[in-house]
Amino acid sequence: MATLEISFDPSRIDFRATSDLLKESYWGSGRSDELHRRAFANSLCIGVYVGGNQVGFGRAITDRTVFAYLADIIVWPGYRGQGIGTRLVQALIDHPDVKTVTHWSLSTNDAHAVYEKLGFRPSTDGPLYALRPMRAHNPRLLQNRLTAWTRCALGYLVTWRGVEASL
Ligand SMILES: CC(C)(COP(=O)(O)OP(=O)(O)OC[C@H]1O[C@@H](n2cnc3c(N)ncnc32)[C@H](O)[C@@H]1OP(=O)(O)O)[C@@H](O)C(=O)NCCC(=O)NCCS
Repeated sequence: MATLEISFDPSRIDFRATSDLLKESYWGSGRSDELHRRAFANSLCIGVYVGGNQVGFGRAITDRTVFAYLADIIVWPGYRGQGIGTRLVQALIDHPDVKTVTHWSLSTNDAHAVYEKLGFRPSTDGPLYALRPMRAHNPRLLQNRLTAWTRCALGYLVTWRGVEASL
């Protein structure tokens, strides 16, 4: 594989490719480009590049002080299983802007191995109780939310125990 490059420069993100791939993911269906623009603008975003072409994306939703939530971690299909996802998440955690963050979390349905290698552990804090406004007049939105809730209920909330334990 050509040299892997990691960048936090938002202007390098291939927005078209990233937004389209996320919309195809199991968690991103129903999202719009506008939603992604706003979400990316308010996150610490990372891009991974091979030969100048983007092959990975991820973001941390964070106060850059105490809390951070990893989201939209994705590697382009032809590049999966080569260690790129692991390096991407490690680089996000190591970014100087989030060096004081002590509470890292994320939820994932199936990629536990990626995060466990980096020190994340299943949360044992008990059930997560979330309140969300329901806009029942939009059937598509309602359907997306019900799907998301079901996935969330079946999902896996993991917390970086190593860091949390050092508090
Ligand atoms: C999940 C994803 C980001 C991982 O990136 P990647 O570059 O393929 O992962 P890595 O090559 O660094 O793999 C790290 C480890 O996690 C495992 N792994 C990767 N993806 C996995 C998945 N979906 N389910 C279970 N294990 C997975 C790998 O087998 C590897 O373990 P090993 O070193 O013991 O063989 C990538 O596969 C992807 O974009 N998948 C589609 C999107 C997705 O499902 N994201 C999960 C929600 S966060």
